[in-house]
Amino acid sequence: MTVLTGAGVSAGSGIPTFRGSEGLWKSFRAEDLATPEAFARDPKTVWEWYDWRRQMIARAVPNRAHQVLADWSRRFPGLTLVTQNVDGLHERAGTENVIRFHGSIWELSCWDACGREPWPDDRAPLPELPAHCPACAGLARPAVVWFGEPIDPDVLARSRRSVKCEVCLVVGTSSIVYPAAALAEEARAQNAYVVEINPEPGASAVDLAIAGKAEEVLERIDVLIR
Ligand code: OAD
Repeated sequence: MTVLTGAGVSAGSGIPTFRGSEGLWKSFRAEDLATPEAFARDPKTVWEWYDWRRQMIARAVPNRAHQVLADWSRRFPGLTLVTQNVDGLHERAGTENVIRFHGSIWELSCWDACGREPWPDDRAPLPELPAHCPACAGLARPAVVWFGEPIDPDVLARSRRSVKCEVCLVVGTSSIVYPAAALAEEARAQNAYVVEINPEPGASAVDLAIAGKAEEVLERIDVLIR
């Protein structure tokens, strides 16, 4: 089984989704801030958005959706979880076999690509905005995938392999950001049984759509399969 997750799994932890009125920050949309062009134009504003999110995530704790999926990842060794989320809550819940499709908000990398490998930094708030690269003193950026940037080829290859599966759960994503959204389509094209869990389902073609919150629906399924 493969589980594809998006921002909706962290909604129950109090982290706003990207789309929807509560997802906005100072009336900016993710599409306006999560781009190399936005960073080149105004690194301080982009960093302020990430720092705001880092502080919110640092205060949050994994919810029942994260916990049930973490438990399944230990019980069912064939389970792979591919997440678009950069918050690290799946990992904090103890999930095994996580593929981070869009990177991590807790890692930074050098904007000037000076050769320094991405580095972890869990300080929230960061002491200085914008942050700087410790190797070259140029600008640092969040080590996440921005709109217009490619997915790491190894991450993409492993994710695509993972959707050659019998059952694919698509949890808490609007399925509009590609190539992540293509994974569920690929799963279905390869005859996986695709189940969507979302209070507002219908974003992608699936075999079964369960209308409900991830933290409630996964809890109920977990009780049924125990
Ligand atoms: P979105 O904000 O686009 O969609 C969140 C989805 O979660 C919506 O379909 C909601 O209906 C659903 N939802 C809300 N509460 C939920 C709950 N309690 N349980 C289950 N589902 C719930 O988030 P993503 O699809 O993850 O990318 O967004 C994809 C990408 O767009 C993100 O990874 C990020 C963003 O811009 C980049 O930054 C590159």
